[in-house]
Amino acid sequence: MPVSRLPGLHRLTLHERAERVAASAGLVPEEIDALAGGRGLSPEQADAMIENVIGVYGLPLGVATNVVVNGRDHLVPMAVEEPSVVAGLSYAARLVRAGGGFSASTDEPQMIGQIQVLDLADPAAARLRLLAAREELLALADAQDPVLTGLGGGARDVEVRLLAESPVGPMLAVHLVYDTRDAMGANAVNTALEALAPAVERISGGRVGLRILSNLADRRLARAWCRVPRAELALEGLAGDEGVGRIVEAYAFAAADPYRAATHNKGIMNGVDAVALATGNDWRALEAGAHAYASRDGRYRPLTTWERDAAGDLVGSIEFPMAAGTFGGATRSHPLARLGLRILGVEGARQLAEVLAAVGLGQNLAALRALAMEGIQRGHMKLHARQVAMAAGASGALIEAVTARLIAEGTIRVDRAEAILAELRADDEARSGGK
Ligand code: MEV
Repeated sequence: MPVSRLPGLHRLTLHERAERVAASAGLVPEEIDALAGGRGLSPEQADAMIENVIGVYGLPLGVATNVVVNGRDHLVPMAVEEPSVVAGLSYAARLVRAGGGFSASTDEPQMIGQIQVLDLADPAAARLRLLAAREELLALADAQDPVLTGLGGGARDVEVRLLAESPVGPMLAVHLVYDTRDAMGANAVNTALEALAPAVERISGGRVGLRILSNLADRRLARAWCRVPRAELALEGLAGDEGVGRIVEAYAFAAADPYRAATHNKGIMNGVDAVALATGNDWRALEAGAHAYASRDGRYRPLTTWERDAAGDLVGSIEFPMAAGTFGGATRSHPLARLGLRILGVEGARQLAEVLAAVGLGQNLAALRALAMEGIQRGHMKLHARQVAMAAGASGALIEAVTARLIAEGTIRVDRAEAILAELRADDEARSGGK
């Protein structure tokens, strides 16, 4: 099991960090090489993944520390361009660690596939006929993927929903509930749906339209919860008690207002998406599921809750769909995704889902703490200034010089960075010309 508490990791050089993480995660030399950029995704591999490939797009790969989920340490790989996400999660996970770490659970990995049935003379009667044919439909679906059924996955249930009103009149939505085991499962589900379509037409007497997975994976929920001892939330001039109160108030804002809830949930997905990307998972599917679930009762709500418990400590929880896998798709075809899973050290999709839920909760805690207790600008400013300096064209030692001036002046804009850069370059030239 990797050790996730690596104090001072951020102070090492990139190569030293990679070595620390490699040692902790038990990586072999070729894997360390891949981290260094030498053997990541090759143009040839990229060319086989999508269409019209012209290159390979890079993102920073960071590792969040301190994450404990269900008593297990996890180093958390994150592919993300936004500053403060990795540091934020590491910081929040340290606070949670002081309260015993994250606890998490998941449902069975059941996805829902949908078949749209149109042109029905009597939709209600067709619905009953389809429900009566449950066993036939399940057997047909199970015959499509003997490997998955051999591993204990496969068709679990058939539901039929009557959509009485739509812009084109009534229709049925036939749901195939399908256990995809360690895979995200889109391919397996879509294949099974294709196979069911002729039978669904015969039994219903209607015409099949779409046959596609639903991203509202509400049979595959992941949950995480945690406790932060209030002493951990003390800041200079702010007692721990007050820190707890500020975070609960920040949550209350999201609970009362969809405009705030959208941003609150965006912060959660900052972490979830970064880990999804680093492990080859479909982050758009997770986004779609999370936001649809957030509005399941007709009003958009935060995915987390934060409260003060009887002892005065902060307790938080999260629940959302988690269609993530450790098998199939890019988790295998992308060399760095394989590596990401190795660093994370999860055994299977359910454990991955539990870690992702904990990451979402931790990332939210980091954001709320920063916003309610520090003001987000303080933490963000240096990293943001550095990005602005680079965007203005600074390189090498000039990055730090421009960054320092931007912060000192309190104006972090590219036009200002360009002017400072021009000044510093002119100074440099004057100095070297004078030699
Ligand atoms: C920025 O990417 C994310 C935050 O806006 C999240 C939040 O407001 O809770 C800081």
